[in-house]
Amino acid sequence: MKMLTILCCVAIIPTVLCAPYTYTTKYIDVPIDHFNFANNATFKLRYLVNDTYYVKDGPIFFYTGNEGQIETFAQNTGFINDIAPKFNALIVFAEHRYYGESLPFGNQSYTNLKNLGYLSSSQALADFVYLITELKQQYKSQELSSVPVIAFGGSYGGMLSAWIRIKYPAMVEGAIASSAPIWQFTDLTPCKLFYRIVTNVYETFGTEKCADTIKKSWALLRAQGKSDAGKAWLTEEFKLCSPLKTDANISALADWISGIYVNLAMVNYPYPTGFLAQLPAYPVREVCDNINSINITSDRDHLKAISMGLSVYTNFTKSKKCNSLGGTSANLGEKGWGFQSCTEMVMPMCSTDDDMFENLKWDFKQYQEDCTKSYFGVKPLNPYLPIMEYGGKDLEAASNIVFSNGLMDPWSSGGVLSNVSSKIFSVILPDGAHHYDLRSANPDDTDTVKDVRNFHVKAIKSWLKNFYKAHTLANVNDFSKF
Ligand SMILES: *[C@@H]1O[C@H](CO)[C@@H](O)[C@H](O)[C@H]1NC(C)=O
Ligand SMILES: *[C@@H]1O[C@H](CO)[C@@H](O)[C@H](O)[C@H]1NC(C)=O
Ligand SMILES: *[C@@H]1O[C@H](CO)[C@@H](O)[C@H](O)[C@H]1NC(C)=O
Ligand SMILES: *[C@@H]1O[C@H](CO)[C@@H](O)[C@H](O)[C@H]1NC(C)=O
Ligand SMILES: *[C@@H]1O[C@H](CO)[C@@H](O)[C@H](O)[C@H]1NC(C)=O
Ligand SMILES: *[C@@H]1O[C@H](CO)[C@@H](O)[C@H](O)[C@H]1NC(C)=O
Ligand SMILES: *[C@@H]1O[C@H](CO)[C@@H](O)[C@H](O)[C@H]1NC(C)=O
Repeated sequence: MKMLTILCCVAIIPTVLCAPYTYTTKYIDVPIDHFNFANNATFKLRYLVNDTYYVKDGPIFFYTGNEGQIETFAQNTGFINDIAPKFNALIVFAEHRYYGESLPFGNQSYTNLKNLGYLSSSQALADFVYLITELKQQYKSQELSSVPVIAFGGSYGGMLSAWIRIKYPAMVEGAIASSAPIWQFTDLTPCKLFYRIVTNVYETFGTEKCADTIKKSWALLRAQGKSDAGKAWLTEEFKLCSPLKTDANISALADWISGIYVNLAMVNYPYPTGFLAQLPAYPVREVCDNINSINITSDRDHLKAISMGLSVYTNFTKSKKCNSLGGTSANLGEKGWGFQSCTEMVMPMCSTDDDMFENLKWDFKQYQEDCTKSYFGVKPLNPYLPIMEYGGKDLEAASNIVFSNGLMDPWSSGGVLSNVSSKIFSVILPDGAHHYDLRSANPDDTDTVKDVRNFHVKAIKSWLKNFYKAHTLANVNDFSKF
């Protein structure tokens, strides 16, 4: 079963290598089950705080953590640090339960369904509300409601930042929801859109020929995979750590390759992210240059072109010995997200002749069966759950949310791409990748990302102005500084 982790950083970024920001680590006791008075057990939720820029009565900038250890997001969301000084803001990054150190049952959190069952977006939002309330207690100068909070999030974290504003509007004044596919759910978005956008990225930053070479490679890969000699050749050509032996191995190879294409599209930033997974600027362009550089005169040449292309991602440092397929799947982030995808977050995906991937039907029954094998027999019963919980496309009652999406981000398939109302905005980065606007400013930034970041700042400013006025608080922010 293919399960795409939304924020590929979780899988590819070694956190220690990218740590320009520093924080104080704190913990808060929160209920394991927010929705059951018969259970009073608690666990320690981790959060990171930076109060260097905070001035009394300033706002709290609160990042609603996603599916991974919180440091990863704290280090890749420099936008918050960039603007916090102007706003005199306290910065908080809250970890999502069941990831990083925030494990409700310690190292037993993933060992059985009874322990794992408390992993859901609604429990996570309730954790965040607990923490926000505690922070308001700590930082208030008047009553609790006098502390303004702005939620931030990217990717699944962006969904959570939008949802916390939708569900708990009294807790946060507004939300910046970047690359948040809140509509990547059943009947809200065509299942084929995601892979179609990935293909666009290869056609746009590479060439149509490149996308076409990729499209035609799957059948050739399967054909090679039929014979033992072909399997041995593929093992050698793709420099795999262990030999391909079975048909399932060939499928695993195909999944691994398509996962890499998707990841590359997500991190197709205009500058090298060498501190992340050692990738060049616009890595998709580089992949396609490699693919197009081979003069293809045989099927094996064709597959050689593919492996040359992939090496941009797998071996940019030229020091990797061999590749293992899905070797990191023991990673908590992937396990946790897999469980969430098999319970609440069912995101229909398919690929067709319109894209460069192998055809893949969306089959909910099959998806359910695959889930049953993976997580103690659990399967998603109701694919409409997220819509029932958070409202799907009916956002008229909500306010103060900015959704931002790069159209070259595959996840924009489920994003909010037009203005919903006079209080819910959508801003677009036509050639932007995933989570781009939340990254720190960079000399090679595009003009559109600068515009989008300015839009965020203006929105936050107007939410806070209204807030300070409504609460007859002295405005600590000198908005003339902007
Ligand atoms: C907050 O972040 C700034 C800039 O990264 C850093 O200089 C400062 O030491 C940090 N403060 C804390 C308390 O970690
Ligand atoms: C939690 O519940 C147990 C029994 O269910 C009870 O003995 C204990 O006093 C409760 N603890 C708190 C802090 O309420
Ligand atoms: C789980 O944690 C407990 C308590 O900290 C420890 O004694 C035990 O060795 C750990 N088990 C594993 C498998 O890590
Ligand atoms: C092929 O499948 C076997 C059995 O699942 C597995 O042990 C082996 O690691 C796989 N080989 C590769 C290259 O993934
Ligand atoms: C591609 O290879 C073929 C056969 O070796 C050769 O005839 C042709 O000139 C080559 N084309 C280019 C552009 O190198
Ligand atoms: C990485 O590149 C080096 C140098 O070109 C090469 O020797 C090695 O086999 C490559 N490894 C992989 C996994 O592609
Ligand atoms: C939404 O409205 C804002 C403010 O008027 C505008 O800047 C933005 O371009 C609009 N978004 C879309 C997708 O049209």
